[in-house]
Amino acid sequence: MNPEVRRAAEILRAGGLVAFPTETVYGLGADACSAEAVARLYAAKGRPADHPVIVHFATAEGAFSFAREIPAAARKLAEQFWPGPLTMVLKRSPKAKDFVTGGQDSVGLRVPSHPVAQALLREFDGGVAAPSANRFGRLSATTASHVVDEMDVDFVLDGGPSEVGIESTIVDLSGPDIVLLRPGRISGEEIEKLLGVKVRASDASSPRHSGGLERHYAPKTPAVLVPPHELDAEIAKRGAGVAVLAFSKPDERVDYWIRMPRDPQAYAQRLYAALRELDTAGCETILVESPPETTEWNAVRDRLSRAAASAAP
Ligand code: TXA
Ligand code: MG
Repeated sequence: MNPEVRRAAEILRAGGLVAFPTETVYGLGADACSAEAVARLYAAKGRPADHPVIVHFATAEGAFSFAREIPAAARKLAEQFWPGPLTMVLKRSPKAKDFVTGGQDSVGLRVPSHPVAQALLREFDGGVAAPSANRFGRLSATTASHVVDEMDVDFVLDGGPSEVGIESTIVDLSGPDIVLLRPGRISGEEIEKLLGVKVRASDASSPRHSGGLERHYAPKTPAVLVPPHELDAEIAKRGAGVAVLAFSKPDERVDYWIRMPRDPQAYAQRLYAALRELDTAGCETILVESPPETTEWNAVRDRLSRAAASAAP
């Protein structure tokens, strides 16, 4: 056993906070059965106490122990996609306390595949409550240094840059319909295909989930989505003071320009690091060239539109 992992598990057992890598983004972990540890977690994130948090396990068996009803669809999804970037919302068992469910009757469960996350969860041998390791409302962290830059934690496990780059797909199986609460690497279409049923997109009646707030995953610098054919005119109009995230080659009028891949998975992997970098450039606005309207860009479009939503009044 890696001594760092052993140390991290000891800190979790003692009620401490451990940042750890997952294949999606870095998580900030606390013992999901300790009210005090979870309270510290919420304080470190600056997150409202009534928001539910995802509980992570090494195995599907562990995850399902926090649910009181496991529909056949959930078992199928677990078999196909766990360990991996999928979170399931299920009716909670008595093990899932109000302080992880935000007082709701459901709980978010995930079995991550990253080897360091797996090692930590196996060594800890219990549920680890872990939101993304960023301040509330801000961009998720995809490297250990992103975490250290923005918050105080007791220990950070470094597992290199996250491979998926955006948060897990969240699917709600706690009600009569199956609902996609957050798009991610695993698409709604893949889930529909596996289950042979329609997956509804989330709407206002879906349970509360902070990724559902309009402005979320946001840089400090205002971001604006610009259709490809308007990018040139927008740069001309705004002049100096813009940073650009685009598919096309850098324009010499702009000092801060990050060129993004045309493949949606490669784009997602780089997205938060790129926005963080442009956010430190001291510009007035980040112009983001809109990605295509096709379904394979759904998850990226979701994060970009939230990053660009104007601050809630
Ligand atoms: O990829 C991920 O899911 C990462 C890594 C660390 O696993 N975690 C993550 O956690 O993104 P967080 O807390 O930043 O976002 C979890 C989302 C929130 O929007 C939360 O409200 C929602 O999941 N959620 C958790 N439990 C829920 C529940 N019972 N019902 C509805 N939404 C829930
Ligand atoms: Mg988050």
